[in-house]
Amino acid sequence: MYQEIDLDKMDVNAEPPIEEPDRQYYFMAKCREWVREFERKNGRRPFAFTQTFGCQMNARDSEKLEGILEQAGYEKTDREEDADFVIYNTCTVRENANQRVYGRLGYLHSLKKKNPGLKIALCGCMMQEKQVVDKLKKSYRFVNLVFGTHNIFQFAELLNRMQSGDHMVVDTWEDTDQIVEKLPVDRKYSFKSGVNIMFGCNNFCSYCIVPYVRGREKSRRPEEILEEIRRLVADGVVEVMLLGQNVNSYGKNLEEPITFARLLRKAEQIEGLKRIRFMTSHPKDLSDELIQAMADSKKVCRHIHLPLQSGSSRILQAMNRRYTKEQYLALTEKIRRVIPDISITTDIIVGFPGETEEDFEETLDVVRRVRYDSAFTFIYSKRTGTPAAAMENQVPEDVVKKRFDRLLALVQDISRDVSSRYTGQTKEVLAEEVNSQDAALVTGRMDNNLLVHFPGTAADIGKIIPIHLDTCKGFYYMGTKA
Ligand code: SAH
Ligand code: SF4
Ligand code: F3S
Repeated sequence: MYQEIDLDKMDVNAEPPIEEPDRQYYFMAKCREWVREFERKNGRRPFAFTQTFGCQMNARDSEKLEGILEQAGYEKTDREEDADFVIYNTCTVRENANQRVYGRLGYLHSLKKKNPGLKIALCGCMMQEKQVVDKLKKSYRFVNLVFGTHNIFQFAELLNRMQSGDHMVVDTWEDTDQIVEKLPVDRKYSFKSGVNIMFGCNNFCSYCIVPYVRGREKSRRPEEILEEIRRLVADGVVEVMLLGQNVNSYGKNLEEPITFARLLRKAEQIEGLKRIRFMTSHPKDLSDELIQAMADSKKVCRHIHLPLQSGSSRILQAMNRRYTKEQYLALTEKIRRVIPDISITTDIIVGFPGETEEDFEETLDVVRRVRYDSAFTFIYSKRTGTPAAAMENQVPEDVVKKRFDRLLALVQDISRDVSSRYTGQTKEVLAEEVNSQDAALVTGRMDNNLLVHFPGTAADIGKIIPIHLDTCKGFYYMGTKA
């Protein structure tokens, strides 16, 4: 979180501090000098545009980037074509995420021809891939700054290097065990926030690139997390989303080990905090202690995201998921026994190498039995460097596409049915924004994550309001204040 440092009182001509985060605050002050110079020349401050690809972890990282840009004196813009500085925080979990970035870079190149002063930066997971950085260095020389996930805390320092030179600045690290706390953050929402509890992943699911681009699992110390939540609450936040690739293994490698369930119980005690969410849970590590902590809690939302990936035990083994179909089903039954009203959502991959029609039927079988509130379905994407990419028997594209469509239809059918089970009831809804299509409506979320639209005004935003759920429209409700 933000440190109380007056950047204008900092001596930017002195040697930069060695310690973090002091060093970054020093460079923020330096960037601010550059911005003042820009302002003198142009009569306005420079505009910065941030684009985030990928998961909640990246969204949270972008809030940190924006916090630093704000401290440096940049003005935010939503219009890329007005920007003096553009930064893309990239994702590489599936190939189409990469393609979108290359597509957008073509557009940025055309903007740069019109505005040669435009500076372009790329960071995030894609930048941790050597072949990507090589390609950028060779064919995308108009990019000014490239850095990775491990040194994102150095953004102020790198920004300063970019501002004071004309050459392409490239700095990516292989891994780090460093967690730098207390950097500034510019939150997208005033009333809810993500909170990182851990970084990286040790699971090495055979299809997944995340462990390679995010590095080994590192947990933040519980005191740092709780202190951050307290500060957020003091600043108006009522809902936090605890973030990690596998929150169920949180705390295992800390000097003083602690379980995720214990962390939840501590967070529960923070006064003023109303809702706690978390993401993501790996089924293999989900403990009875966690289920009990959820059941006992008044703040932890009745929702668990429990990625299945495949319903076939044979494929699950090839995926290195370390649970079987039966274990997964038993787990969901246990969760529902202890917390009957819980929403369960999932991620499923179709077309993993070697997946047969029988394997796929097993996936459909799990979907029918668990009856997910919703599911993200993905076509398997080959990621260079992962064990699955080297597997023979990749499934033909047309077969995968047909299976994908069948799965999606089933998932949606069930989801529509399951989602409507609250019709006629009154539920608490956190009002999140004025509806973009109809300004007389406000859109909010129930604790199970379902969306609700109801007549309201901007004054409702950030409040938890009892709403009568009048009708279910498939994946959302229309309601009225109770
Ligand atoms: N740590 C989380 C997932 C992070 S990635 C977990 O283990 O649940 C989010 C989702 O992307 C995964 O759950 C998986 O369904 C999907 N995914 C990851 N790698 C993929 C690949 N190579 N092809 C298709 N989908 C993939
Ligand atoms: Fe990827 Fe598996 Fe780690 Fe999730 S748990 S990030 S799917 S390797
Ligand atoms: Fe993508 Fe990186 Fe998240 S690869 S899904 S942005 S951890």
